[in-house]
Amino acid sequence: MPAPIYLPSPSQKGDVSLEETIVQRRSIRHFTSEPISQFQLSQILWAAQGITNTSRKHRTVPSAGATYPLEIFVACGNKTVEGIDDGIYHYNIDNHSLTLHHKGDVRLELAGAALDTEFVYEAPVDIIICAVYSRTLMYYGGRGERYVHIEVGHAGQNIYLQATALGLATVAIGAFYDEPVREVLRLDKQYQPLYIMPVGKPA
Ligand SMILES: Cc1cc2nc3c(=O)[nH]c(=O)nc-3n(C[C@H](O)[C@H](O)[C@H](O)COP(=O)(O)O)c2cc1C
Repeated sequence: MPAPIYLPSPSQKGDVSLEETIVQRRSIRHFTSEPISQFQLSQILWAAQGITNTSRKHRTVPSAGATYPLEIFVACGNKTVEGIDDGIYHYNIDNHSLTLHHKGDVRLELAGAALDTEFVYEAPVDIIICAVYSRTLMYYGGRGERYVHIEVGHAGQNIYLQATALGLATVAIGAFYDEPVREVLRLDKQYQPLYIMPVGKPA
């Protein structure tokens, strides 16, 4: 098992106000090939699911009954994130680290599974938000499915806002084939991919 990559501590201060960030947020589909920093990736992942209450382990994003069904994977190219090799990484929410899940740059294959959306392989990094439905459905039955979908929207919006505040670009992608995405990412059946969000510098 490869050693985890501990990400830089996320900052809780930014240069732009929340209101300005909301106004500036846009879906951007053109990225430069310039790498992003580990700090920027750290900040994006923290915004999506980071722990903000250490005693109760509550997170940046609300969750129905604090059941936390979301799991995040990151597809990196070769040195497209400073100091991180190409591969698929799992974000360990508890200790804000990444664990290598599969070696190699899968961005082109991932783009293929997402209707050949070219910016999925042009962006230095793709964030894939997956859900493990059973965590929420075991408490809420069928209604839990609605809750999971609402929750991924919260996480997606936080990624948008954090990217905007850092001067980065992103777009929420829902147009992809589930099974091929699962195959590209070597994901077990319990993980349902819900959003792919490429992140990088705007072109
Ligand atoms: C659930 C959902 C799915 C989306 N799927 C895609 C997608 O597959 N491809 C894409 O380019 N944009 C996608 N978008 C982004 C929208 O096209 C975008 O939010 C919309 O055009 C409004 O633009 P704005 O985000 O800049 O305000 C999606 C947005 C949402 C909320």
